[in-house]
Amino acid sequence: MGERRQVIFNCTPGGRLVGTLRVPGDKSISHRAIMLGALAEGVTEVCGFLDGEDNLATLEAFRAMGVAIEGPEQGRVVIHGVGLQGLRAPRVPLYLGNSGTSIRLLSGVLAGQAFDVELTGDASLSRRPMGRVAVPLRLMGAGITTAEQNTPPLRIAGGRVLRGVDYPLPVASAQVKSCLLLAGLYAQGRTCVSEPAPTRDHTERMLQGFGYRVEREGKRICVEGGGHMRAMPIDVPADISSATFFMVGAAISEGSEVTLTHVGINPTRIGVINILRAMGADIVFLQERVVGGEPVADIRVRYAPLHGIHIPETQVPLAIDEFPALFVAAAMAEGETVLSGARELRVKESDRIQVMADGLQGLGIAAHPTADGMVIQGRDHFDGAQVDSRGDHRIAMAFAMAALRAREVVRIMDCANVDTSFPGFARQATVAGLGLEVIHPPAVTGL
Ligand code: S3P
Repeated sequence: MGERRQVIFNCTPGGRLVGTLRVPGDKSISHRAIMLGALAEGVTEVCGFLDGEDNLATLEAFRAMGVAIEGPEQGRVVIHGVGLQGLRAPRVPLYLGNSGTSIRLLSGVLAGQAFDVELTGDASLSRRPMGRVAVPLRLMGAGITTAEQNTPPLRIAGGRVLRGVDYPLPVASAQVKSCLLLAGLYAQGRTCVSEPAPTRDHTERMLQGFGYRVEREGKRICVEGGGHMRAMPIDVPADISSATFFMVGAAISEGSEVTLTHVGINPTRIGVINILRAMGADIVFLQERVVGGEPVADIRVRYAPLHGIHIPETQVPLAIDEFPALFVAAAMAEGETVLSGARELRVKESDRIQVMADGLQGLGIAAHPTADGMVIQGRDHFDGAQVDSRGDHRIAMAFAMAALRAREVVRIMDCANVDTSFPGFARQATVAGLGLEVIHPPAVTGL
């Protein structure tokens, strides 16, 4: 795969966010809808599906394994499930782009198949740790090899007999938990995973929705191999991780009031709201309801002055994708904000501690990276600057929101990957009031 186009976000300083908007569908739930829909018996209709590049990578992987999938068209996807034993060998390696969720969850599914398969990704994914799934999958009997640094490509041998294990997760990771539960569907006996701290539970909820028994005993989650799943309709809520950029934008810019509709507020995902409220943000849930086993609400955010806090470590896994935006909020809060216990941020789509600290410093903020977090001194404005998102979608969108409190233009480099999770971000942000111009500089051709 070649290098991507350069995309620059040029953000004009100042402004506020107003209006009602529905951000795209939840990325985590969209991945799982394709995977479980493909492995279920019957036809699964999905609405609200996120057609971001990460989810399309999952969708294409299942098509390559013989699953008929219609769409996506305006969020609608129809998956003709083949059952747990119905996947076929793909002709080529499965390319999963930037998507950690795709590669880690798929490795669990593929460990239990009759065929060999190779999983690859882009430059960022090719640096991310895969030992965390390879080690426990091997304990289950899987044949799985990684590149030298325990990174992709992953080669998974078919025809292995998997055995259930009882595995304490060394890191709080929903991706690893989900990988092992999915492998557990193919294993003999019971597969149990214990979490050091609660992480997003969409896999467990959706398995149960598809009629697969999942048992939870405190920190331990178990499945028994050899069952089957029945298709069910899925309504994907709007992604709280995408809504976060607008929540933070509204929370830091005077005169803002936004309502984000139909947002998933699963308790394992609302760390960002707990943290912003502790900082003084004015956030209200309206019309709380349950949609297809997932809690949903409209979220209203009004500007209110923020103050720095010590972020409770218990909130870290519940807000793990939201720290780029939370750091921007902390930079505009009165006093000091301290984050610790978040070493995982160093192995996301980029090293989010270092890349965010570099960018914040460029914007005039005293931001000090630590091994497992950051210390940020709040200020009343950002300086103008050029910052590099290092191809990390969430960092690009977080810095775009910083422009609302900047005194000069904020120019953000390497923003093409925003399309992995939030296609249409620039348009929605502009409608809400951010001055954001997307620049596609001409490609520089070599000799
Ligand atoms: C995800 C889990 C999280 C998160 C990622 C999506 C998922 O990763 O960062 O964006 O869908 O399971 P970890 O579980 O590895 O922290």
